[in-house]
Amino acid sequence: MSDNNATLTVAGDTKDYAILNGTVGPQVIDVRKLYANTGMFTYDPGFTSTASCDSGLTYIDGDAGVLLHRGYPIDQLAEQSSFMEVSYLLLNGELPSKAELEDFTRTITRHTMVHEQLTAFYRGFRRDAHPMAVMCGVVGALSAFYHDSTDINDPEQRRIASHRLIAKMPTIAAMAYKYTVGQPFVYPRNDLSYTANFLNMTFSVPAEEYVIDPVIVDAMDKIFTLHADHEQNASTSTVRLAGSSGANPFACIAAGIACLWGPAHGGANEAALNMLREIGTVDRIPEYIARAKNKDDPFRLMGFGHRVYKNYDPRATVMQKTAKDVLAKLGVNDPIFDVAKELEQIALHDPYFIEKKLYPNVDFYSGVILSAIGFPTEMFTVLFALARTVGWVAQWNEMISDPAQKIGRPRQLYTGPAKRDYVPVDKR
Ligand code: SDX
Repeated sequence: MSDNNATLTVAGDTKDYAILNGTVGPQVIDVRKLYANTGMFTYDPGFTSTASCDSGLTYIDGDAGVLLHRGYPIDQLAEQSSFMEVSYLLLNGELPSKAELEDFTRTITRHTMVHEQLTAFYRGFRRDAHPMAVMCGVVGALSAFYHDSTDINDPEQRRIASHRLIAKMPTIAAMAYKYTVGQPFVYPRNDLSYTANFLNMTFSVPAEEYVIDPVIVDAMDKIFTLHADHEQNASTSTVRLAGSSGANPFACIAAGIACLWGPAHGGANEAALNMLREIGTVDRIPEYIARAKNKDDPFRLMGFGHRVYKNYDPRATVMQKTAKDVLAKLGVNDPIFDVAKELEQIALHDPYFIEKKLYPNVDFYSGVILSAIGFPTEMFTVLFALARTVGWVAQWNEMISDPAQKIGRPRQLYTGPAKRDYVPVDKR
């Protein structure tokens, strides 16, 4: 292997494969000609050593616990920026001027209403339907209402569809919540910020004025920022793969929502709070730590571990601080938060977790805050999907705009039967 090439010898035939460099982070070996040269595929179930694309959106250094969006550290964005500004940054590559941010925010604000007939979709669900099932269905149906922004080859239609998705997700999410609790849908208000508008659509009722608490708005906006994008995670890869076939953006985002729902991914925030509630008290933590370490027990500490972070997830650090601030400002004394902090301390000093480099991830503390704000656990992954929509949309736009983009079509190691002839049923 030289500085610029990796050399591979297969069956006596030696070939060089280019080593490509990014701005920072691991280099890649370009194996696109491997099959043509060797008749062999690479083999990497779960894509633990595979770069699926180029991207300039988000950089993660899992060993150092670093997360950058277009070069800016997540802790700085969470503390100093806003979800709307981070959305602009992810979509456009640079932080906006004051005028650019005002214009972008105004555009998003004016797309927050949904087609009135979309409300009929909700009535087809049972009231006790999981809100993520509702999100999959309603977002998947959006292309039936906004057909004028589904031509992926038209940059203007891509722009409008991107804005519609970012703008309408809070409305659709709030409606999913209202439907499950049997309260009337609340229309968007253009005089409110993106996050305040979402909270108003979720928690206000016609019977009395909903007082918007700036503490909660700030915490919610920070949570949205922490969930905005995260490199080529499972749901983002799903959106990219769906988009690579030329599917419309609404269908692609619906595919991302479906993937995010899994408890190993975005569903972990709901599972983590349910786990903390099941543990209940600090004295029961050792029992669950033992279960998590037991190979014969499928139980895992939800909100712990990560494919990329082998250090602290920087989002979890901000999330824990936000949880402490919000609970204090709201005067909420949730024993679950104490269980979470104690569980973290015990796990971080346990050889099993140290050896496997398992740290709290973004999902470990988020549920404590969301619960304090008043969201039921079933809504937690909906909120993750709401925030991640801007990341999915930005990644989708980056893929579609790449002139080298082609349909994603992995191969396999075939382990089924070799060719054999059909046997009629009376001869079996
Ligand atoms: C998200 O990819 C992203 O960027 C995702 C995300 C994003 O923003 O998009 O960051 C959001 O999905 C965060 C992760 C949320 N999921 C959870 O909290 C669920 C619990 N965590 C795990 O299921 C697990 O850690 C994963 C799925 C997150 C990562 O799994 P990997 O990378 O495939 O690692 P692994 O399953 O191979 O585990 C490595 C070892 C195993 O032990 P051995 O087989 O080597 O003996 O660590 C163990 C695992 O058993 N392990 C755990 C554990 N997580 C891993 N043991 C106990 N509890 C855990 N939580």
